[in-house]
Amino acid sequence: MTNGFQAERIDTTSKWYDLFQKGVELGTWNVEKLFEEVGFEEDREIWASLEPGERTQLRYLLSGFLDGEFAVGEDASHHLQRIMGAPCFDDNEEMEMYMTMFTLTEHKHTQFLDVYMHEVMGERDTFAEQNPKRGGARIPIVQATGLGEVYDRQGQLTARAAHSQDPVDIAKALTVYHMIVEGLLARGGFYSINKLSRNAPLPLLNHGFKFISTDEGRHITHGVEALSELIEKERAGEPDFQGVSQAIVDVLYENVGSVADFGYMFTDAVDDPLEIEFDDLLMRVGRLIDGQFNETLDLDVDHHRIIGIVADRHRECLETDIDAELREYRERYERQRGVAADGGGDRD
Ligand SMILES: [Fe+2]
Ligand SMILES: [Fe+2]
Repeated sequence: MTNGFQAERIDTTSKWYDLFQKGVELGTWNVEKLFEEVGFEEDREIWASLEPGERTQLRYLLSGFLDGEFAVGEDASHHLQRIMGAPCFDDNEEMEMYMTMFTLTEHKHTQFLDVYMHEVMGERDTFAEQNPKRGGARIPIVQATGLGEVYDRQGQLTARAAHSQDPVDIAKALTVYHMIVEGLLARGGFYSINKLSRNAPLPLLNHGFKFISTDEGRHITHGVEALSELIEKERAGEPDFQGVSQAIVDVLYENVGSVADFGYMFTDAVDDPLEIEFDDLLMRVGRLIDGQFNETLDLDVDHHRIIGIVADRHRECLETDIDAELREYRERYERQRGVAADGGGDRD
């Protein structure tokens, strides 16, 4: 950094200081202002003009994002902040500073998606009283496909790492959070939003997602840098760090099937009317895995094996009667809300 000044307690040449500053400059897009400037009207018109199948596909994709953003926001507030203060990161003040920007942006992503879905798509499935934080469950499609499990796993692993502060536990937590949920699921989702925008050019949605994906780029950079530090100390022979690389690879194999759970919601299973195409998504994920794990972290991940795991899980999803599970969850939701099964101001 050549910002021309220094500090005493803060290292202004640190890469985390740099990320913090980038977050200050770029991460402060104002969600409400975006709503004011772009408005909801055009998106509402386009939404109303879509076929029912197209609406379902888009609703499922955004549902996966809404529950995901909510989960990462919660885990960032409660656990990541403590993880970044762990001794294995050498009292890295700048890392903790960056975390505040990080958490802020995750909550803004939830803000954007929650308001957008309510205002443009009409209320359905995302009711406040069913919020997981208030003892509810996830959105029915997220629960029915199994995608909710990777968010649960992220919650468990980040909680454990925040308590133990053990480098191997931290490596597992950061792998699920940054490499799988942000690095593969969210990026796969951005790719899909980009692709479907040819058939459903929703201006406000696309604007919001441009900001969200830029923010997520910084989050992933942070995750990769943090994991690289742990791997570096393992390779230097520090006893507490032994097992870090193996843990990253194991956690990847164990959880990467969630890509198929997410893909189920908006690809072939819903007939893919907006033409996202699962195979293209799978190829994209394969390339991301190679880049993230093999090139950047210098690990040895067999990305053909990964693609096999995801493709198998996708077949399993297609063979499961997810619609029946969905109906069951919906009915339970409605019972818990105390309204008739056809209640609610739905726009589709
Ligand atoms: Fe996010
Ligand atoms: Fe993120």
